Amino acid sequence: MKTEILSDKNESDIKRAAGLIKAGGIVAFATETVYGLGADASNPEAVEKIFSAKGRPQDNPLIVHLSSADDTGIYAEPNGLFRKLSDRFMPGPLTVILPRKQTVCDKVTCGLDTVGIRVPLYLPARKLIKYSGCPIAAPSANISGKPSPTKADHVINDMNGKVDCILCGDDCSVGVESTVVKITGPDSLIVCRPGGITVEMLESVCGSVETDPAVMSAFSGKPISPGMKYKHYSPTAEVIILDGTEEQIADYLDGKKDFAVICFDEDGLLKKYDDVYILGKRDDAGEQAERIFDALRTMDKKPWIKTVYARMPQTGGVGLAVYNRLIKAAAFRTVTL
Ligand code: TXA
Ligand code: MG
Repeated sequence: MKTEILSDKNESDIKRAAGLIKAGGIVAFATETVYGLGADASNPEAVEKIFSAKGRPQDNPLIVHLSSADDTGIYAEPNGLFRKLSDRFMPGPLTVILPRKQTVCDKVTCGLDTVGIRVPLYLPARKLIKYSGCPIAAPSANISGKPSPTKADHVINDMNGKVDCILCGDDCSVGVESTVVKITGPDSLIVCRPGGITVEMLESVCGSVETDPAVMSAFSGKPISPGMKYKHYSPTAEVIILDGTEEQIADYLDGKKDFAVICFDEDGLLKKYDDVYILGKRDDAGEQAERIFDALRTMDKKPWIKTVYARMPQTGGVGLAVYNRLIKAAAFRTVTL
């Protein structure tokens, strides 16, 4: 398939991409979290194309993207807590799982009676949805199992020739996918996937905020978000998390070969190795989130790297999302030094 490469800096390109979605095509586009691969959420044939382009498991539902939270009632059953969350965090990197209506096709929800609703903050994404005149179902625009794309180049790498259009835009400023929450009561919710809207931020509007155990450890049961059970975000090399001091890590790596290190600015001792990716300052989780997928993708381009050792991040704020993406890339392999 010939993929049109367009730019969201041009209004006419956004309109062209919207026309392709309206006509049943699939279009990759930038958001503030990661690039998405979008199709008309009310058109099952179009949605099916997303699953084949990504090689996505058929039981993993897609998020529905709207240009305004005011449209939620057309596709789902919003309640009081949803309105509090949407007033505060939409547009933004938050997806709320709500009871669905039939206006979203079964292919999007994979047969569940719920649907995830998100309103992206990145303006060209909202324009794309508005010009399309339909809700846009969109997973991250990576091949299933690979790190999510946060730069236009990442998407071109994975999707050129497989989609109708790649609408290139800015690098994604949040860098990890949206926080997915499910409302469990009038003033309670559960975080199914951590992201840019942190647990602390959610606690400021909601009385009880739980976190699905699948976020922090190898799940032994059924996670609320089907996507959380898949090994994810993995470069070809094996990823291992090292929990220890800089000195302990340097000792551990001594004599090892064909490896890369993902660490922090302050880790002077670890910068001597040939392949090092600096995620940012140790206490700047925002910077780490922005770079984590690029770090994993950078490793993928270096075929001599057999193992990627990542220093354990802090888990407060957006750090929880960075940790979650790393432990999933590592398939939960952690060495405590
Ligand atoms: O930031 C994001 O959310 C990006 C951008 C493109 O908006 N999208 C994204 O989509 O990350 P995806 O498909 O890669 O991840 C969606 C996650 C999956 O873990 C999926 O299982 C979960 O949301 N999900 C979607 N609908 C759900 C539902 N009805 N119930 C529970 N989990 C759901
Ligand atoms: Mg994804």
